[in-house]
Amino acid sequence: MKKTGPHSINNEACTGCGECIRVCPDKVIALVEKKAVFSGESCLDCGHCAAVCPVQAIHFKTLSCKMHFQTFAEKREWLPFGGSDITNLVQLMRSRRSCRNYMDKTVSREILCDLVKIGTTAPSGTNSQGWTFTILENRRQVVVFGGFVASFFKALNRKAANPFLRIMAGIFLKDNLGRYYRSYYKTIETGLHEWDSKGKDLLFHGATAAILVGGTPKASCPAEDALLATQNILLAAHAMGLGSCLIGFAVEAMKHDPSIKKRLSISGDESIYAVIALGYPAEKYQFVTGRKVIQPRMVTL
Ligand SMILES: Cc1cc2nc3c(=O)[nH]c(=O)nc-3n(C[C@H](O)[C@H](O)[C@H](O)COP(=O)(O)O)c2cc1C
Repeated sequence: MKKTGPHSINNEACTGCGECIRVCPDKVIALVEKKAVFSGESCLDCGHCAAVCPVQAIHFKTLSCKMHFQTFAEKREWLPFGGSDITNLVQLMRSRRSCRNYMDKTVSREILCDLVKIGTTAPSGTNSQGWTFTILENRRQVVVFGGFVASFFKALNRKAANPFLRIMAGIFLKDNLGRYYRSYYKTIETGLHEWDSKGKDLLFHGATAAILVGGTPKASCPAEDALLATQNILLAAHAMGLGSCLIGFAVEAMKHDPSIKKRLSISGDESIYAVIALGYPAEKYQFVTGRKVIQPRMVTL
């Protein structure tokens, strides 16, 4: 991706305070005769310089500060360090739970598009923003996608049920098939049977929408970028009244069966790192849950 740098620094407005130089990660701004000047070197396009400038002298043609959310009001003022409510933030984080019961109610396209925009507020390696988002906006699309995933696992279960293939895979393929058989075969078999015989959706849990978060190879850290955007979406979904659940089985199927991406018009060089099921929740909790006690390692150097 070509990095361009600020498109204009208003020489008259610039007071020469040097704040833009202090926050610039690429050091591509210098003070020349007490005015900020862009060196023309390739920059990250992060916009820190424009955001810090007290007189708004710096402008990027390519960066829009306004995100144009359609379903809620935007506040553009930067929250100072320590300026947000940590109690509320942690309560939101702990209240987000994987939702496995949904109402039969469609999520609007506007909400889904806002969730994607919220995803893009995450950090990305070298600010590449090379993530991709694919939206399935109704239950029918989710069911069709679920069918693609189910076909993949049906074929895999057929292979895994064959003891001869498991032995051969154990010898030649690091026992991947054997491990799959021991860990997932039964669960998948039950899921497929429940779907085929009762129409019970143990894959997407009846979700009425999904967002697939991916990345392109030109991003420096595509998986990390996609997963950071994903967590933003999960938290925002909760705040917007939606339930969500990551569907790792769908990610796994797409990893091994390129025809699924093709059928969703996703290009072959793109990888999908998260599939987020979404919908209006048909469940409610009384309390947040705990987590296993973790003992961080304290380093003594
Ligand atoms: C990478 C990943 C894949 C997951 N895949 C599935 C899945 O396929 N189906 C499902 O019901 N839950 C899935 N989950 C949800 C986890 O089971 C869930 O996050 C975990 O049990 C903790 O519960 P919580 O999300 O409610 O805090 C997945 C979670 C992660 C992080």
